[in-house]
Amino acid sequence: MAETVPENLRQRAKELRSQLQKASYAYHVLDAPDLPDEVYDRLYRELQDLEEQHPALVTPDSPTQRVGEQPASQFTALEHNIPLYSLENAFDIDEYRQWETRWQRQTPDIESAPVVAELKIDGNALALTYENGLLTRGVTRGDGISGEDITPNVRTIRSIPLRLQIEPPPPRVEVRGEAFIPNDVFKRINAERQAKEEAPFANPRNAAAGTLRQLDSKVVAQRRLDFFAYTLLLPEGTGGLSSPQTQEDSLKTLQTLGFKVNPNCQLCPKTEDVAQFYNYWDQARTQLPYLTDGVVVKLNDLALQERLGFTQKFPRWAIALKYPAEEAPTILRDMTVQIGRTGAVTPVAELAPVQLAGTTVSRATLHNADRIAELNLHKGDTVIVRKAGEIIPEIVRVLTDLRPQGAEPCQLPTHCPECGAALVRPADEAVTRCINPTCPAIVRGDLIHWTSRQALDIGGLGEKWVQQLLAQRLVSSVADLYDLTVEDLLPLERMGQQLAQKLIDAIQASKSQPWSRVLFGLGIRHVGVVNAQLLTQEFYTADRLAAAEPKDIEAVYGIGPEIAYSVHEWFQASANQRLIERLNIAGVQLAGAPPVVASTELPMANKTFVLTGTLPTLSRREAKAKIEASGGKVTGSVSAKTSYVVVGIDAGSKLAKAEKLGIQQLSEEELLALLEETASP
Ligand code: IVH
Repeated sequence: MAETVPENLRQRAKELRSQLQKASYAYHVLDAPDLPDEVYDRLYRELQDLEEQHPALVTPDSPTQRVGEQPASQFTALEHNIPLYSLENAFDIDEYRQWETRWQRQTPDIESAPVVAELKIDGNALALTYENGLLTRGVTRGDGISGEDITPNVRTIRSIPLRLQIEPPPPRVEVRGEAFIPNDVFKRINAERQAKEEAPFANPRNAAAGTLRQLDSKVVAQRRLDFFAYTLLLPEGTGGLSSPQTQEDSLKTLQTLGFKVNPNCQLCPKTEDVAQFYNYWDQARTQLPYLTDGVVVKLNDLALQERLGFTQKFPRWAIALKYPAEEAPTILRDMTVQIGRTGAVTPVAELAPVQLAGTTVSRATLHNADRIAELNLHKGDTVIVRKAGEIIPEIVRVLTDLRPQGAEPCQLPTHCPECGAALVRPADEAVTRCINPTCPAIVRGDLIHWTSRQALDIGGLGEKWVQQLLAQRLVSSVADLYDLTVEDLLPLERMGQQLAQKLIDAIQASKSQPWSRVLFGLGIRHVGVVNAQLLTQEFYTADRLAAAEPKDIEAVYGIGPEIAYSVHEWFQASANQRLIERLNIAGVQLAGAPPVVASTELPMANKTFVLTGTLPTLSRREAKAKIEASGGKVTGSVSAKTSYVVVGIDAGSKLAKAEKLGIQQLSEEELLALLEETASP
């Protein structure tokens, strides 16, 4: 009975076929690829998987049913004497192991065999023919069966010998390898093209492909193509050569014949050696003067290679172990929005999970409304996601050809999904905002920021508890945290007496965090950790900062007008003034020490004072404060270490002792004069 394939899968297969065919034509015939390789590979695999699960989906024109594409028309098509196969891809070591298991299953007498790991040069394959030692033909890979005769162009490549260095030469030699353009030459070519207002090449591989197919070989000569040889075939005998037995032998022989062979290759007896080589070059490849997109692993023993042979498309004895893609296609399931602490609305793409640079990506940022419009996003779109380094994944483009019929366009909501308030977008800004200060999303963001490590550092009170506190309406501002009791927390899910006590203790302990952290914790726009420190050094109380004009704030070294304005505006808002008042009542630090010179640098540092009797104008406390402000210390009893005794009316035994020890005496007037005199200008 004929298999019934669900209509949605049938449709998807059709879309994939048409996208792949289009991309393939652009790549092979027009020399103007419109899909990154990795993306092509993924879509290809998706189609392959679909066809495997539902063989009824295979059509004769499916890209999976042929080895390559038609050559373009300008050059003469030539059939290869021996077809140029392409390689199966593995995207990680696990997939590589599966390949190992597969070939081993075919040869039960062989458990393991050494392989040669070579760099996969990201260029264009060429097949070169030498007859009686002379280069007679240079042909592109084409569809693997026939390619284009570009012999005059090949002759311009200096790393390709015109005559083989061997006597007597074998009657016929076929050499395969990769033609490529080194990175620095690529840059030069593109600079020249741009100067002539010609479209630059997308990458060195396209530049090489475009160059090889230039009709004017003089242009080719200027482009400085290079070539690494990796395959040697001797279909009609060996001449003066000894017949290579291994891939290693072949590479050595190619070198003796006058070819350039990539030096970065290694004989690997074990899987771990391959893994190590692959991982090493993943890093080191950035230092190479040309591009490599993976590692090609080949069984070293040529007899074993012959025994294993080929599938319809690939050799069974080799595999390409590619580096993880940084771009991949996936489906945009939906678009949601996130409201940040500042009320900023960030649209988020909800994606069908996809593996990217070693991680699973299921969300990507869409930045803002302009970006959504630019991408013309629709729900269900096939999109290309990119993850480069540490950067948050983002959507780089949409494959509009794959858009399902009747797809709904993505648009930012007009109202905040959290509080229902109308969203606003100031005319001169790219950002859309919710401006409701009581919006739960904003309050949640404020609370999380307040408790964070660099702010009030309330350990244990993370996002999870903040969510619950808000949900239970126990808090609606950071000031509410300081009113919480253990009893308030107990009803929360998964809360116990001990934990509740710990959280309350942590909240209470945060009251002793310095004013600079408090200022940072308030989450004023543009006031990060550093700006908070700069501001609090100058404005050592919240009152002073609240009263400051923008110009005063701007006068602080390192603070610009935008920050000054933002701080001033924040303190003007009555809701914020109330917040400061409540924090003050709760006992949160809204002041630091007035700016003081380090105590060792103060004039009275290391001096000890003793006060005795009643001073004419100063109370004891006042006198003590003045002495301490100058760095001096006040002690209760006289000793040899006492520097001064300050003598008032009715001085008692302390004066007598001072006289005995010969310690300098000061009246109140003399004390004030001394402090005055030594005070810094
Ligand atoms: S061996 C039957 N070795 O990768 C074996 N290929 O995806 C065929 N490539 O078409 C190729 N560096 O253009 C081999 N060291 C290397 C290679 C290499 C790059 C290219 C080649 C091939 C493609 C397969």
